[in-house]
Amino acid sequence: MSTEPSSLPAGGAGHPGAPWSSGVRRRDDGALEVAAVDVRDLAAQQGTPAYVLDQADFRARARAYRSAFESAFAAVGTGVDVYYAGKALLTVAVAQWAASEGLRVDTASAGELAVALRAGVPGDRIGLHGNNKSDAEIAAALDAGVGRIIVDSLAEVGRVADAAAERGVVAPVMVRVTTGVHAGGHEYISTAHEDQKFGLSVSPGPAGGDSPAMTALLDVVARPELELLGIHSHIGSQILDPTGFEVAARAVLRLRADLAVRTGVLVGEVDLGGGYGIAYLPGEVPLDPERVAKDVAHTVSDAAADLGTPLPRFSIEPGRAIVGPAGLTLYTVGTVKPVVVTRPAGADGDATFTRLYVSVDGGMSDNIRPALYGADYHAEIANRASAAPAVLARVVGKHCESGDIVVHEVMLPGDVRSGDLLAVAATGAYGRSMASNYNLLPRPPVVAVSEGAARVLVRRETVDDLLALDLG
Ligand code: LLP
Repeated sequence: MSTEPSSLPAGGAGHPGAPWSSGVRRRDDGALEVAAVDVRDLAAQQGTPAYVLDQADFRARARAYRSAFESAFAAVGTGVDVYYAGKALLTVAVAQWAASEGLRVDTASAGELAVALRAGVPGDRIGLHGNNKSDAEIAAALDAGVGRIIVDSLAEVGRVADAAAERGVVAPVMVRVTTGVHAGGHEYISTAHEDQKFGLSVSPGPAGGDSPAMTALLDVVARPELELLGIHSHIGSQILDPTGFEVAARAVLRLRADLAVRTGVLVGEVDLGGGYGIAYLPGEVPLDPERVAKDVAHTVSDAAADLGTPLPRFSIEPGRAIVGPAGLTLYTVGTVKPVVVTRPAGADGDATFTRLYVSVDGGMSDNIRPALYGADYHAEIANRASAAPAVLARVVGKHCESGDIVVHEVMLPGDVRSGDLLAVAATGAYGRSMASNYNLLPRPPVVAVSEGAARVLVRRETVDDLLALDLG
């Protein structure tokens, strides 16, 4: 938690850095603006809560990832494709922004695939993921001519091959493997065996023999209806230490070399997945795309040389790192309630303090991450500056649940009051995409801002929308 009441000094001091998008600044009169749009105007025109997306910031991050990886991999003599992971946030406009910055789009359901196609992204620049794809999803992907289906189980190898055979096409596939590396937050651990639903392990089973990953690769090679493009590995999310990517990349290159020895097939591509971490709080340092790209490029170059194999082409799938910092959520403050908290006697004795509960007009339905993962966010009063001394506050939603927390701990000016606007930073990823209608709250709109203008990308739901789904 930052102890400062504002990371955004008033008076046009310029962009304050993480966790805000590059278009966020405080005006001379103390109100926040995003891409030269005053949040008070946004709130008046669009209502609150609202997801606000800084278009130029999204594009700049897409460009930064693409250029960092392209130059780092070119320097070791190979190429790289960047797929925007649509699960973080996918709307037609967002897919178009990604595509126009030269990114491809990674989808994980028929719904995400449909949005990417509606956006005009060519099928061959789309990938389809999923540990439990339906027949309809496999069919939709083949009919759209997707560039890759990432198969996630032995059974799926046969299902995709059969669906391709029915259509008389050859399906381009990658096999998703698990290398034993799990990464996320600040730690990564390496374990011999996976205990999760994704991918196929590179480790042999207890009885020895081929690993599930090798078995799947051999199965794909044996099916003429499948073209084995390569091997896929995604190790986790919100990763701030590149080491996990390097360990996983080495394991995947080893598997690729083993497959070449077994079959003579040296697959042309390795996908290292997403997971690039961002700053959620002032002072946090996001993963630097240039650094991670260089580290991984050097590692894979060394590993391929050690194995005596030429380097494959690479791909990556960042989601959060492109859209997370580009978004903020704008709320209106309602009930403000000081609560005296007494902690039970511990080593430090009794602790009694006051926490200011600041209720906003959304909550866990528009951002489940604090409740689901204990995720931390930063919030500030957005409609005005305040010189009032900062107090310890907790931002909570309007749902019928005490775990309905938007920001666990934040210092807010002590005069925060009903009617104030509150901006929560870095909510662009996995906010709208994981939103629900809990308590039958209509979901907020996604509003893009660019060069002083706002455009609604996804309109606000209404109670009538919800009633229309209920057939009585
Ligand atoms: N590729 C694959 C195969 C993935 O499974 C994921 C995320 C990504 C790419 C994108 O990861 P990113 O770059 O966005 O970290 N709901 C969680 C995150 C779940 C991520 C699942 N897979 C959250 O809100 O933190």
